Amino acid sequence: MAETLSYLDTLKPAERAMSNITITRTRSPKTPPSDDSLTFGNVFTDHMFLMNHETGKGWHDPRIVPYGPFTLDPACCVLHYGQGIFDGLKAFRGGDGHVRLFRLPDHARRLNRSAHYLCIPELDPAMVEESIRALVDVDRHWVPKKPGTSLYIRPTVIATETFLGVHPSHSYLYYVIIGPVGAYYKEGMNPVRILASDQHVRAVKGGLGAAKTMANYAASLYGAEEAQKAGYTQVLWLDAVEHKYLDEVGTMNIMVKIGDEIVTPPLGGAILAGVTRDSVLTLVREWGMRVSERQVSGELGYKGERTVINDGKTGALTQKLYDTIVGIQYGTAPDPHGWARLLGN
Ligand SMILES: Cc1ncc(COP(=O)(O)O)c(C=O)c1O
Repeated sequence: MAETLSYLDTLKPAERAMSNITITRTRSPKTPPSDDSLTFGNVFTDHMFLMNHETGKGWHDPRIVPYGPFTLDPACCVLHYGQGIFDGLKAFRGGDGHVRLFRLPDHARRLNRSAHYLCIPELDPAMVEESIRALVDVDRHWVPKKPGTSLYIRPTVIATETFLGVHPSHSYLYYVIIGPVGAYYKEGMNPVRILASDQHVRAVKGGLGAAKTMANYAASLYGAEEAQKAGYTQVLWLDAVEHKYLDEVGTMNIMVKIGDEIVTPPLGGAILAGVTRDSVLTLVREWGMRVSERQVSGELGYKGERTVINDGKTGALTQKLYDTIVGIQYGTAPDPHGWARLLGN
């Protein structure tokens, strides 16, 4: 049971001209879990955002509705050929009570770049930003308070045309779901054990590695399972051609400090352009460190050998980066780049 309100009701007069999102509020709201119980990715809020695309009609019918399952035809394109993309970002509640979205415009642009790689119609980043702001605003009481917790935001696009045969779909669903989370890794901020795989590859230059698309995660499962059986948390993916150069780690980009230089693999091929990667590179350049985006060969837990880095402890630079970025996210540190935008501003 639900009651339909216009999104206009939630906007200040000056904002009204911009939006035609309709809101159907749930009549049976859930109670958000306690901040102490949060893990990652298994609790979702009361609402979700939906919008459709058909060839010739464009994106249409933006709406916020009660969270719930959808119906898909078993011949739906994404279920067979994987034409789908997503992104992932967070909103944080500071000690001041304000909700801040971390680098929303960058995530919206990345979603649109992923769309391009997968032959999905253009998603105007301003529209993506608005959909996320509107949804987080409707469920803002779900943004947890405890330090280390946040609201995870998952914008997704799936190809919905009903057919068997390999060609881009003529219809799509864009949706956003959100949910309160704790740390992604059970280790939290502590170092994770990683295994450099010389057997499996995640993505190859010229393929889809730079897109945030389902196929890349499917390709990573087998190698990640093997690494976990061997006692590691994640796989360090090496380049798919020579199995020699660092690419990225599970759901993270990688950087190494060699002497006083920070080295990280270059973009433009098999790896995702991480927003954290860009944040870290921006900060270390500002701190006067030498940075190089180039290929780097790796030997960590590789071919049966284990290498313990920095005694298994978090290094001083990593800690400083963590404290700076987390400070910006929760509004306790200066934010000269405007990375953490207040919800409603
Ligand atoms: C494959 C992959 N690489 C890197 C990242 C890091 O990206 P970001 O820093 O934007 O979260 C992610 C996280 O989503 C990922 O899935």
